[in-house]
Amino acid sequence: MRNDIEKVLISTEEIEEKCKEIGAQLTKEYEGKFPLAIGVLKGALPFMADVLRHTEIHLEMDFMDVSSYGGEMRSSGEVKIVKDLDTKVEGRDLLIIEDIIDSGLTLSYLVDLFKYRKANSIKIVTLLDKPEGRTVDIKADVVGFNVPNEFVVGYGLDYQEKYRNLPYIGVLKPQVYGGV
Ligand code: XMP
Ligand code: MG
Repeated sequence: MRNDIEKVLISTEEIEEKCKEIGAQLTKEYEGKFPLAIGVLKGALPFMADVLRHTEIHLEMDFMDVSSYGGEMRSSGEVKIVKDLDTKVEGRDLLIIEDIIDSGLTLSYLVDLFKYRKANSIKIVTLLDKPEGRTVDIKADVVGFNVPNEFVVGYGLDYQEKYRNLPYIGVLKPQVYGGV
């Protein structure tokens, strides 16, 4: 599996350090509140687990699974809810946890949905941001790392459902995609 990786963009140590930092920040920001942390499956799972274990606040966790009708490497903007929340959103302070924001279409869909459901507040935390990929105007409140406009895998992110269990973020060798 590791032989398929051309280069490591963000190391395990850098991710760990960032999770601690963001966890401490969230602890301050949500002091005295009871936010609902929403993980966007499946990619956000490792990041959500690692970042939330560094918070010291009462919170609730729930998950949303959405899929885009686009190809496997880009989203189309039309979003299908595969698994909805079990928790009522009205009046809650929401903390959306994502693996990566690329075009921004997935998140802007979710934000609109949660506004419609009358959330009290919505904050977006993403491990990675690819600002060059953006087609809609949406910004995360907390960004772990900016990444170049390359397809990245690992630490939750997949290529054809593989590589999610890598402990770092990397770029695949071109031959893995059937390239040279
Ligand atoms: P949008 O474009 O809606 O995309 O912001 C967010 C979703 O697209 C997927 N995505 C990636 N997945 N490596 C991946 O493994 C990438 O470089 C990448 N860029 C976008 C991802 O599912 C994300 O939630
Ligand atoms: Mg995803």
